[in-house]
Amino acid sequence: MNPKRKLLLSLVTLSAALLLGACQKPAPTAVEVPAASAPAPAAKVFVVGTDPTYAPFEFQNEKGEIVGFDIDVLTAVAKAAGIEVKFVSTPWEGAFNALAQGDRDVLVSAVTITDERKQTLDFSESYFEARQLIAVPEKSKVSKLEDLKRSKIGVQTSTTGEEVVVKLLGKNSANIKRFESTPLALSELAAGGVDAVVADNGVVTHYLANNPGAKFKPVNDASFAPEQYGIAVKKGNTELLAKINTGLAAIKADGSYQKIQDKYFKPAQ
Ligand code: ARG
Repeated sequence: MNPKRKLLLSLVTLSAALLLGACQKPAPTAVEVPAASAPAPAAKVFVVGTDPTYAPFEFQNEKGEIVGFDIDVLTAVAKAAGIEVKFVSTPWEGAFNALAQGDRDVLVSAVTITDERKQTLDFSESYFEARQLIAVPEKSKVSKLEDLKRSKIGVQTSTTGEEVVVKLLGKNSANIKRFESTPLALSELAAGGVDAVVADNGVVTHYLANNPGAKFKPVNDASFAPEQYGIAVKKGNTELLAKINTGLAAIKADGSYQKIQDKYFKPAQ
């Protein structure tokens, strides 16, 4: 190659490289934007899973919005803790997995704190005490759990209601009828497909009050142990859990928790 050609070639290569460089990395503009005027990074919005088939704890209003006691509690907790949350409808079955996999940051769904669940999730301090309650047709003679030994019992799958019925009838009993939601189990009771339903007292009481036409009555059983509802986070998410517990303590201390409780439950309950 003669020297002239060589020079030309390297000039071409050089300008091509410059051009490419210019395209890839636009030269910085003359003035750097001072940090103070830069937009603040958007605050993280924590995704809260809830199964809104559990009035009055979580349900959908006529507008399809997720509302209820748990929603008010967690909204107040978030405000007190200075975090942002949004609620996402999450089927009960799979809700714990969604948390473990990071699809949800928090679960608030009338979740009872149990030792078994504590192995895979972390819970806040308790925010509500509940127990199981039996719903039977008004005419039923059932007066305690034991009376259901030979009956078909409806429960929501993987709930503490299912646990007490499993204890009574055995895990593989054909008389345990498992439903995706508690309202489905209660409809089956109305249809006569099951003889009783066992679920959390707040939900059974709320259903009876709002569906007088169903003609059900509640039956308590002395063996039902008190249960504590907790707000769940992924195992090991101590930072978020600490914020939730701080918020919870704050709303208990300043009376806002009490106001929410009074809004949903009569003082006697
Ligand atoms: N407290 C019961 C449990 O933890 C039932 C909760 C069901 N919650 C719901 N939103 N469906 O097993």
